[in-house]
Amino acid sequence: MKPAFCLILSFSITASAQDVAFFESKIRPVLVKHCYECHSAESGKSKGGLVLDTRDGIRAGGETGAAVVPGEVAKSLLLAAIKHSDPDLEMPPKKPKLADSVIRDFEVWIRTGAADPRESALNTVERPPVNLAAGRQFWSYQQPVKADGNVDEFVQAKLRENGLTPSPEAEPVVLLRRLYFDLIGLPPTPEAMKAFSREKWEATVDDLLRSPRFGERWGRHWLDVARFAESNGRAVSRF
Ligand code: HEC
Repeated sequence: MKPAFCLILSFSITASAQDVAFFESKIRPVLVKHCYECHSAESGKSKGGLVLDTRDGIRAGGETGAAVVPGEVAKSLLLAAIKHSDPDLEMPPKKPKLADSVIRDFEVWIRTGAADPRESALNTVERPPVNLAAGRQFWSYQQPVKADGNVDEFVQAKLRENGLTPSPEAEPVVLLRRLYFDLIGLPPTPEAMKAFSREKWEATVDDLLRSPRFGERWGRHWLDVARFAESNGRAVSRF
């Protein structure tokens, strides 16, 4: 773990996790992209006496006074600056005005208390604290429960819902081909096709599930999904 990430644990916040999440997704990225260049410890610039990369900085403001007053939209100079409501203070300077939706986000943020977990310029990478209770509500952590009815009924219900009707039942050889491609990614041999009948469906499914080809096909599929690669491509020296 990089040392910087350890700082995650070191700050205390009073704002709700939701407010902090709003700041992290809607406010901080805008400040970083459009303002830090001239108003942050990292850039070494505090134009107008203002730094925007700490909570204290943004609240204290610069030469003119508080840039953000939590809950007080009208008293927050930062908002006036990004709204271009005063021709003498248009931020970011000599650049197009920020999008209306972004300006609205700032208004909402200030009106709802200007949640801001940033403590100092040092720990600008901290994230809101992990909320274990909320995290455990995530679907993949839910205990699976057996539903009433079989899979086909659920499929039928969705088809009906979308005004679709099932295709007619496929010929045995077509069915077998689909089964092979689905499970092992290969076509059935002519012998397998000749030997197949509908009665052998379940046994064939079991055989294919038992085949090493099944593991190979799906192992490859999931490794692709996980973007596994043996190399990063640089090993190809011809280029
Ligand atoms: C290219 C540099 C630059 C960028 C980028 C920039 N500012 Fe400024 N900012 C200044 C300068 C310079 C001043 C001093 C006043 C002036 O000259 O207009 C200032 C002043 C301010 C003030 C008034 C400070 C005070 O108390 O007088 C606020 C508020 C402000 N900026 C907010 C922002 C915000 C918010 C952003 C990003 C959306 C931003 N600035 C981006 C250069 C910049």
